[in-house]
Amino acid sequence: MVAKLFIDRPEAGLRALLVFSSSVESNLATLEELEELVLSAGLDTVAVITNPRKIPHPKSLVGSGKLQEICLEAEQADAGIIVFSEDLSPSQEKNIEQAAGRRVMGRTGLILEIFAQRARTHEGKLQVELAQLQHAASRLVRGWTHLDRQRGGSGKGQGASAGLSGDGETQLEADQRQLRARTKKVNQRLAKVQRQRGQNRKARQRSQTPSVALAGYTNSGKSTLFNALSDAKVHAADQLFATLDPTLRQIPLPLTGKMILSDTVGFIRALPHTLIEAFKATLEEVTHAALILHVVDAAAPEKQERIDAVNNVLSEIGAEQIPQLLVLNKSDLVTTDMPVIRRDSSGKPVSVCVSALRGEGLDAMLNCIDELLGSELVKATVSLKPEQGMIRAKCFNMGCVIREVTHDTGVIDLHLRIEKHNLDKLNSALMQSYTMHNQEINGKIDNR
Ligand code: GTP
Repeated sequence: MVAKLFIDRPEAGLRALLVFSSSVESNLATLEELEELVLSAGLDTVAVITNPRKIPHPKSLVGSGKLQEICLEAEQADAGIIVFSEDLSPSQEKNIEQAAGRRVMGRTGLILEIFAQRARTHEGKLQVELAQLQHAASRLVRGWTHLDRQRGGSGKGQGASAGLSGDGETQLEADQRQLRARTKKVNQRLAKVQRQRGQNRKARQRSQTPSVALAGYTNSGKSTLFNALSDAKVHAADQLFATLDPTLRQIPLPLTGKMILSDTVGFIRALPHTLIEAFKATLEEVTHAALILHVVDAAAPEKQERIDAVNNVLSEIGAEQIPQLLVLNKSDLVTTDMPVIRRDSSGKPVSVCVSALRGEGLDAMLNCIDELLGSELVKATVSLKPEQGMIRAKCFNMGCVIREVTHDTGVIDLHLRIEKHNLDKLNSALMQSYTMHNQEINGKIDNR
């Protein structure tokens, strides 16, 4: 496949030298997180160099003395790849590669590599490939132009020495053409898959089943929770970004009936913006949710920073208005006392403690979800004459019928559990043709 020429992926177990920029610690990964990312990408950290430089050097990010130190350390540690904690410009990447004689990778490249390994669905794989092609394209244009000039001097008239591929096209031009062709193909396939996903989402919306999205910092336990709630075996591993593709499952709820739960990609501090763009379609499941379960590793020392980082990404994708329930996971690792459910002044649940691994607190969590989803629900009974079959079908399409009773007279009573705004719509449309008795559900009665 042509694209693979441009997406040169490091082999698993490759020895990595890490260059950690300590001056940007507060915004980007901590060293510990960088090491975890590198491990998640299947690389083996053999040495770490700290770069305290505050102002990046335009040519090589680090100063010339530091570059020498990096080259020497890479040689001594026999590193196959040098991984930087921040992003490098294409020319910086090229310059360091030339000086060290080794492959160099920045933060976006590293996260893309992890995404590439984790993608499981067709859409996820296409999204990663597209993001990798775009990343490669920026490197190809500027990085190779520089090499091209070195190779050929004045360009087209110089034959092989100018990097000509035989028909007057330079190697760079040929590579760019192939890259564009592959990008176009991937874009077309992706558009098709995303159209399908949009249709599926519409069908789910029509079915009136509320969708609930799991979101949270990477490694907080989303997949473990998803598995604990459903029988699906989503890949759960102690690695960052174990989940890339959203996975959907229908989960029964004690009061509201059911929800569609989606598991999404793990968020991370300073997730590169290009990647948020690239995975917007995947993250769309979150923006369409009625409720977000914001999963938090309650045992992580940087709990609050991670909550903030996730909320930042949520607002970047336009999901900041969606109601949230904080799910404080890994409660088995927490030694301090935490209330199982915390409520706000109006009595609405704000957070719930669970241990997805041990299956503890899940019932309390489902009840909180029910309460939050159900606060909008009312109970109603609709009496329909036989000729009102259209209305009956409409109610069933909305998925709000709990029970149907047919009388000898042909009159049908439909017992509904329905969202207030849908009831208003139904009420005004059918005011003349049926009798409706409705009463508020107080959230705790019925079926519990
Ligand atoms: P990404 O896909 O990277 O975003 O991760 P995730 O949020 O889906 O996390 P995942 O479910 O893969 O869990 C990460 C690690 O935490 C795994 O090793 C789990 O076994 C562990 N874990 C999850 N839930 C719990 C829990 O309740 N208690 C403990 N002790 N470990 C847990």
